[in-house]
Amino acid sequence: MLTTSRSRNQPRAGRSWFFSGMDCSVSRRKPQLLVKIIMVVLLIAVCIFILKQTPGFSGTNVFAKHDFGVTHVLVTGGAGYIGSHATLRLLKDSYRVTIVDNLSRGNIGAVQILLKLFPEPGRLQFIFADLGDAKVVDRIFAQNAFDAVMHFAAVAYVGESTLEPLRYYHNITSNTLVILESMAKHGVKTLIYSSTCATYGEPEKMPITEKTPQFPINPYGKAKKMAEDMILDFSKTTDMAVMILRYFNVIGSDPEGRLGEAPRPELREQGRISGACFDAARGIIPGLKVKGADYHTRDGTCIRDYIDVTDLVDAHVKALDKARPKNVGIYNVGTGKGRSVKEFVEACKKATGVDIKVDYLERRPGDYAEVYSDPSKINKELNWTAEYTDLEQSLRIAWRWQKSHINGYDTSLNIPT
Ligand SMILES: NC(=O)c1ccc[n+]([C@@H]2O[C@H](COP(=O)([O-])OP(=O)(O)OC[C@H]3O[C@@H](n4cnc5c(N)ncnc54)[C@H](O)[C@@H]3O)[C@@H](O)[C@H]2O)c1
Repeated sequence: MLTTSRSRNQPRAGRSWFFSGMDCSVSRRKPQLLVKIIMVVLLIAVCIFILKQTPGFSGTNVFAKHDFGVTHVLVTGGAGYIGSHATLRLLKDSYRVTIVDNLSRGNIGAVQILLKLFPEPGRLQFIFADLGDAKVVDRIFAQNAFDAVMHFAAVAYVGESTLEPLRYYHNITSNTLVILESMAKHGVKTLIYSSTCATYGEPEKMPITEKTPQFPINPYGKAKKMAEDMILDFSKTTDMAVMILRYFNVIGSDPEGRLGEAPRPELREQGRISGACFDAARGIIPGLKVKGADYHTRDGTCIRDYIDVTDLVDAHVKALDKARPKNVGIYNVGTGKGRSVKEFVEACKKATGVDIKVDYLERRPGDYAEVYSDPSKINKELNWTAEYTDLEQSLRIAWRWQKSHINGYDTSLNIPT
């Protein structure tokens, strides 16, 4: 029948049948199809609208591509004390920042504050990840277009390192290897590495210059020295730009009071002197336990070089600015002045207005008597000088933050996704 009818209507009507057939079918389905198309379009529009309300969304992943004139820095350990201050400074200076942190020691509250301060798309993202997981780290490098890495993430307590050495070699040395491998694989060519004066051990001659031989005496210092050695060996085979910054004792906090130092309560025993002073001033602990008052120093207590975190992050930005392919820069970051623990405690008493009780105990294993820097190399080559050298003033700024954050950062905040 069909054949007949077709043959009867050919050649002209064949076409017309075809079209009319089509016309019939469209005229029946048209309303349904149109409704479907409109619904799909509406749905897509609603999805785009919702996504656009999400912080950080701009249609494509901005962090995945290099933008001309924008330097994208991976800040490992950016939820920690120094890393969060560095992130704040980088963002203020218009860098794009990705923080990677496993929050083992840092504070999500610090990240939340930074995200609130810089909510614009493409400024800051946070990735919750462990640097010990090489596959995850590789994926992070594959999915993001980093221009430079500031590698802060580490466990960083001398006393703890003597009790748990393997943890330190794993977290510091082995994780730095993971970072280096990912940088090599994904062509990221600038590294600013957080090292420490603990890599020098207890040199006979003060002040410490970058040429002072490195003989670390505790697992923390040894793990950092090994990481430095790996970086230096690798740098000889590539055109990588490397800056190794050996910090002395870091104190202070953001002068505008947005960030502070908030170690986990369980780390208090391991903690650093400024944290312990503040805890004593707030009455969280009964007083200060100074470990060792029989060192060969001017008042028997250890001598250290206290560098304010604001100056320290300034050194990082200058190092990043001056980093050049195939060049390695190694710098001490300190004030060049040694202060005794007793002097520190006196400054802390003045800054807090509290007459802190002090007990003098036995020496702590792994500690050294006197350490202070010669910062002339970084002064000359990076045009960097410590500005915040008034101990009492640095402690007053930090104390202001401590007083207004009795429980540290607000931990009720959720991890941002
Ligand atoms: N604070 C000092 O006085 C001082 C002195 C010299 C050197 N440094 C170095 O500076 C860097 C930062 O120290 P800080 O005082 O800010 O310490 P911190 O503990 O406050 O911060 C370290 C951060 O690294 C993160 N982290 C640790 N292991 C990680 C892992 N496996 N994966 C992902 N994230 C991880 C922690 O969660 C934390 O947020 C460290 O490398 C430290 O060795 C510090």
